[in-house]
Amino acid sequence: MRTKLFLAFIIIISLAILSNIVFERLILKDFNDFVMGTREDRIYWIMASVEGSFREGQWDINALRESLHWGLMLGFETYVEDTDGNRVISSTDVLSTLNPSMLKRMNSLFKLPSGRGEFTWYPLYVEGMEIGRLYLRPLERLGLTPIKEEIFRKRGREFLIISFLIAGGGAFILALLFTIFLSNPLKRLTSSAEAIARGDFSARAPSPHRRLKDELDRLTETFNYMAEALQREDALRRHLTSNITHELRTPLTIIKGNLEAIEDGVISDPNEVIRNIKMEIDRIISLVEGVEDITSAEASFFKRGKKTEIDLKEFIDSITEIMEKVFEEKGLFIKKEGRSMIVRTYPEKLHIVLKNLLTNAYKFTDRGGVTIRWGRHHDTGGSAFFITVQDTGRGIREEDLKRVFDRFYKGMDSGGRGLGLAIVKELVEVMGGRIEVDSKEGEGSRFTLYFG
Ligand SMILES: Nc1ncnc2c1ncn2[C@@H]1O[C@H](COP(=O)(O)OP(=O)(O)OP(=O)(O)O)[C@@H](O)[C@H]1O
Ligand SMILES: [Mg+2]
Repeated sequence: MRTKLFLAFIIIISLAILSNIVFERLILKDFNDFVMGTREDRIYWIMASVEGSFREGQWDINALRESLHWGLMLGFETYVEDTDGNRVISSTDVLSTLNPSMLKRMNSLFKLPSGRGEFTWYPLYVEGMEIGRLYLRPLERLGLTPIKEEIFRKRGREFLIISFLIAGGGAFILALLFTIFLSNPLKRLTSSAEAIARGDFSARAPSPHRRLKDELDRLTETFNYMAEALQREDALRRHLTSNITHELRTPLTIIKGNLEAIEDGVISDPNEVIRNIKMEIDRIISLVEGVEDITSAEASFFKRGKKTEIDLKEFIDSITEIMEKVFEEKGLFIKKEGRSMIVRTYPEKLHIVLKNLLTNAYKFTDRGGVTIRWGRHHDTGGSAFFITVQDTGRGIREEDLKRVFDRFYKGMDSGGRGLGLAIVKELVEVMGGRIEVDSKEGEGSRFTLYFG
C-alpha cells in the first residue's frame, strides 16, 4: 500500500518536472525567436536604407553614411562593397563623423566597431540589378540589455527549480498525509482483522468519532459491528453447547434407564415407563425449540428489521385476548391500565417479550393476577414509553434476582427451560431498550420495559 502510494507520488512529481521542463523550454524558445525576429527586422531596415542610398547609378555617400549611422544605432557594424568588391564605406569611417554626444552614448551601449570579426553579407539590389553587398556583424552589446536577457533566462531556470520544489514538496506532504489518514487506519484495521482471524473476537479497530464520516470511517464501523456480531456468535455457541449438553444429559439418562429396565425385564408398569420416556422426549423437544428461539433472538441482532407505528393499547389487547381464557381458568385476573397511544417499535419482538412475561406471571402466580401498565416515559423524551407487567405471585428471592435473565436459569419447580427471560432480555436490548425487575418473595414480581 505504502509503496504503491509512494510510487504514485513519484510519478506525479516526475510528470510535474517534465511539464515544467517543457514549459521552460517553450518560453525560452519563444523568447529567442522574438530576439531573432527583431534582429532580422533591423537588418531588413538597414538594407532598405543602404539600397535607398544608390541613386541614379551611383552611391550617394551622404545618404549612405546616414544609413550606416542607423546601422550602428541599431547595433550593427557594417560595410558596403560595390559589385567589383571595392569597399565603398564602413562603420569605422562613419564613426569619425558622428557627433560627440552620440558617440558617447553609443560607447555606453556597444563595443564600438573594430572592423574585425565575422561578418555576414547580404546582396543589395536596385530595380532588379545587383549593386553590391552589405557586410554586417552585430556589435557586442554593453549595458543593461544583455543583462536583462540573461536575467530572463535565469528567471526561467529559477522558475523550474521553484516549481519543482513546490510540486515535490507538495507531493511529499500529500504522501505523508495520505499515509497518516489512509494507510494508518488501514493498518490498524488489518491488525484487528488479524487478531480476529487468530480467534480474539474482542479485537476492535479504533473508530474516530467524527461527524463527517468518510469511507474509511464507515468501513471501520462496519468492521467493528461485524466483530461484535462474531463475538456474540462465538459466546452464544460456547454457552449453548455447554448448556445444551448439560440439559440433554438428564432426559437422555432417564430414557436410557427406562429402556435398560425394559431390557432387564424389571418393570412393573410398562405404561408408566412409556409415559416417562414420552415426557423426557417432550422435554428434549421443548429444549430444542427453546434453543431455536434464543438463536433467532440472537440472530435478530443482525436483522433488526424496521420500526412500525402501532397503537400500544390495541397491541396489548390483542395479546391478552388470547391469554385471558387460561388466566380465567386458573382463577387469575388480567388488568390493564393505559390509554390508546401510538408508539414506534418492532411489533414482532415486543409480542414475544410480552408473551414470555405474561406466561411467567401465569406460571408463578396462584392467587390474584397480573396488571399491565403502559405510558409515556418522560425522562428520555417525547417518543419514549414504558410497559410494566406486575403479578401477585410467589415472587423471586433476592439472591436469584440477578440470575433470572441468565440462559438456562430456572427455579426448582419451573418445568420450563429457563430460556424465556434470556430471550426477553436479548430482544429488548436488540430493540434498543432495557428491562428491570423487582420482586419480593411471597408478594409478587414486577418487570418493567423501557424503550426510547
Ligand atoms: N413472574 C415471575 N414470578 C416468579 N418467578 C419468576 C417469574 N418470572 C421468572 N421467574 C423465575 O425466573 C426463572 C427463569 O425464568 P424464565 O422465563 O427464563 O424460565 P422458565 O420460565 O423457567 O422457562 P421457559 O421460559 O424457558 O419455559 C423461572 O424459572 C422462575 O424461577
Ligand atoms: Mg418463562
